[in-house]
Amino acid sequence: MTLRNFVLLPLVLPALLQAAEVKPALMPLPRAAEWRPGTMRIDTRFHVTFASRPEARLQRGARRMTEQLSRQTGLPLDAPAGTTRPGAALAIDCGETTDQPDTLGQDESYRLEVTPAGARLKSATVVGALHGLQTFLQLVVPGEDSFVAPSVVIEDAPRFPWRGLLIDVTSHFMPIPVIERNLDAMEAVKLNVFHWHLTDDQGFRVESKLYPKLHQLGTTNGEFYSQAEIRHILAYAHDRGIRVLPEFDMPGHSATWLIGYPELASAPGPYSIIRTFGVYDPALDPTKEEVYRFIDGLIGEMAALFPDRYFHIGGDEVNGKQWKANPAIQAFIRRHDLKNEAGLQAYFNRRVEVLVKKHGKEMMGWDEVLHPDLPKGIMIESWRDHESMAVAARSGHPALLSWGYYLDHLDSAGKHYDVDPLGGPAKDLTPEQAARVMGGEACMWTEFTSPETIDSRIWPKSAAIAERFWSPAGASTRAGMYQRLDRVSDWLDWRGVTHNSNYLAMLQRLAPDAPIDLLKTIGDAVEPLGIEGREITQVYSQSTPLNRLVDAARAESVPVRHLRELVERYLAAPDAASENTIRRQLERWRDNRSRLEPFLASSFLMKDTELISVYLARIGEIGLEALDALHGGRRLPAAAAESRLGALAKREKPGGEVVIAAVGPVRLLVEAAAK
Ligand code: ACM
Repeated sequence: MTLRNFVLLPLVLPALLQAAEVKPALMPLPRAAEWRPGTMRIDTRFHVTFASRPEARLQRGARRMTEQLSRQTGLPLDAPAGTTRPGAALAIDCGETTDQPDTLGQDESYRLEVTPAGARLKSATVVGALHGLQTFLQLVVPGEDSFVAPSVVIEDAPRFPWRGLLIDVTSHFMPIPVIERNLDAMEAVKLNVFHWHLTDDQGFRVESKLYPKLHQLGTTNGEFYSQAEIRHILAYAHDRGIRVLPEFDMPGHSATWLIGYPELASAPGPYSIIRTFGVYDPALDPTKEEVYRFIDGLIGEMAALFPDRYFHIGGDEVNGKQWKANPAIQAFIRRHDLKNEAGLQAYFNRRVEVLVKKHGKEMMGWDEVLHPDLPKGIMIESWRDHESMAVAARSGHPALLSWGYYLDHLDSAGKHYDVDPLGGPAKDLTPEQAARVMGGEACMWTEFTSPETIDSRIWPKSAAIAERFWSPAGASTRAGMYQRLDRVSDWLDWRGVTHNSNYLAMLQRLAPDAPIDLLKTIGDAVEPLGIEGREITQVYSQSTPLNRLVDAARAESVPVRHLRELVERYLAAPDAASENTIRRQLERWRDNRSRLEPFLASSFLMKDTELISVYLARIGEIGLEALDALHGGRRLPAAAAESRLGALAKREKPGGEVVIAAVGPVRLLVEAAAK
């Protein structure tokens, strides 16, 4: 078989399958796939075989895949991997025979062939095989009389070698099970770097045996990871082909270092854990030699704990206030001709880089560390804009894009998906410069996120981002991505992430006696505002409960998206079935208020929903009026349309830190009725 025979980037299976059959939803899309007639039957006899004695990590991976297959199909699959028995098997042929640390740029490719007689997975490395196992799991769908995997030949490899997810465990501490289940979901969509934001003004979350006051005074209630727990997560991630990048944010975002070690500070203490969120003044003093001795010790200890070659020193959001106010620091800046506070931070970064190197690591920092004097080996992670990533790559730095992938903005999957690390200002990079762009990272900052809500902010959006990082540019469109995303979201339920399962429970908590469908009508109609819209009604701290409607609601309402798609189809080609579905939804919005009325005062958590109910009823009425006009072929007079659009705009933002997303499809109806 030559590569030419492959159908590049299949969005849908061709007519090999009958229309009624369930088609696999692959995400990320493979580089190339050739679909063939026939299917492999997956029943209780399914098992895994190995071409040669498997390396232990692969053996565990195969067992995990089988357990996962059992979970997602409900089939008892108890054959130990490697057994010989009847029934279709997945045969794994992996070239790697000893356990290797995963490295940036390693071979992650695999070839997966499924035939009616069985499946074959071939790879040079264990991580390649692990990726292939996930693709195999996505291929399995219910067929006519059993589960099946369609016949196919897939040749796959990632577009970018660095496909990360950052989790901030400082703003809110994330216990070990939260990390584990998100690593499980990362593996599912081939994300391969877990960026662990471990230290900040709000917490120092890792045990230091050398400087124990860091975690002892930098956290309360034991909300840090012991080194044994860190090692557990490192092994857990390694098993899933995921590298772990630790971040120790310095010289700013360091208040928790200064509680126990105030001698490192740029201003006299005392310091304490900062319970609120934002950019604060505390910063290490770059003019003190004992600061570098301390950092040397800390990096030495942490470099031995975290095996990855890369070490992130943060470097973001240093406001320079303490440096400006300190005469000795100002004198140092003049004496060393550093010009200003930015020059002082560049001096600090150069000193720290030597220490990072000394302990065998490569340094990384946020885009603030970019400076003409910075050694070129330092990797730049751009978060403030896309341009800085292009500048970094042009000036010789390896670079990552996180701008555009900030999950705390609660943008749609489509908006993230449209951001391409090599698009925008990176479009005109030379091939040599573009090769420095290693990929990107989705970033989950947790100011407004708890262990209960975090999964719903990460998933399923990060599967779309994972596709952006893995699949060839242009592999799919926003619409093509959305065609698969709902299925992938449901599939991730079987990994134990709680983005779907917590939703109804959190809604029911608002009013325990209210029928859940009434609460769901409200929850489905709204979307929470992102970080920019959140701190309007109150100042949040680590102890603010995150149990309101805004926390239960998902970043992107799937029912509203579906309705918008349906309205668009209906407006392009009106049909009775679509009209009926749209009408029923609008009536549900209109009538929900009176049905919910008895429960509105039943609980303090229902306060946010009262006005939303009133607004939603009006939005439903406006939609029905427009739909009636469209149905009757009557034009909505311009003045009426203008008044209705004004009413919709007024009702889109009811307070409570949510928007009523339901306005979107109704606006389309009104605009169409006015034409
Ligand atoms: C950042 O978001 N301050 C890196």
